[in-house]
Amino acid sequence: MSFIEKHQILERSPTLLFIASFAVVSVGGIVEIAPLFWLENTIEDVEGMRPYTPLELTGRDIYIREGCYVCHSQMIRPMRDEVERYGHYSLAAESQYDHPFQWGSKRTGPDLARVGGRYSDTWHVDHLMDPQSVVPESIMPKYAFLANTPINGEHIEDLLNAHRIVGVPYTEEMIDAASADFLAQADPDGDWGAVEDRYPGAVFGNFDGQPELTEMDALIAYLQMLGTLVDFSTFTPDASR
Ligand code: HEC
Repeated sequence: MSFIEKHQILERSPTLLFIASFAVVSVGGIVEIAPLFWLENTIEDVEGMRPYTPLELTGRDIYIREGCYVCHSQMIRPMRDEVERYGHYSLAAESQYDHPFQWGSKRTGPDLARVGGRYSDTWHVDHLMDPQSVVPESIMPKYAFLANTPINGEHIEDLLNAHRIVGVPYTEEMIDAASADFLAQADPDGDWGAVEDRYPGAVFGNFDGQPELTEMDALIAYLQMLGTLVDFSTFTPDASR
């Protein structure tokens, strides 16, 4: 019996064809899935990545509450046009402490994965207060109310704890100091050194220029850090993983 004839038996019996296809697909499935049971972590460790500071984490919650992700992605794809416009493509490690991740699915506005440091704090204040004042053709809504909404971090320890429960490595020390760090980051008289020791690469300053701490400060602290933690002048992807 030739090979074609043998194949005819398979093709003419739906039951046999189904069983054979199922066997083939299963092998493919097992090869893909099985290693995940033995790998502890599929995310490459990247130097510079650290949990968010209490103020950044608060800003991130405001970002989510206001639905910024509806118009903005935080995920630079490894394609030339994206990399030339936005910078190095996003690494898995860069969203490893995001619960939930902010990759987004639509770009009405630009990707924000590396917006940190691209503009001054005052630019962000002007832009969030009234986007059309700096980009006349912008269709981004105004978020001026953020500057009139004071925050005091009353639940900040709980927030850090909640993130710890889902796997973010906040230490006891970070949680004990959460309130102090929350207030210090946007306070020109705050103990910036202590915050910097716990959260290397944090950005400091009176972000919105007002004496009281507001949601605007938290959101700008978050935006100014985005994409700045990994030093891409020294980063080399680990090909062994
Ligand atoms: C309705 C869609 C929409 C929403 C919602 C929105 N934006 Fe935008 N955003 C835009 C558009 C369009 C631009 C480009 C024009 C401009 O700079 O204003 C933009 C630009 C930006 C920029 C400048 C990016 C760059 O690289 O130039 C930042 C930062 C930004 N938005 C932050 C935010 C934040 C934070 C929120 C939530 C508080 C938000 N946006 C909500 C549409 C939106």
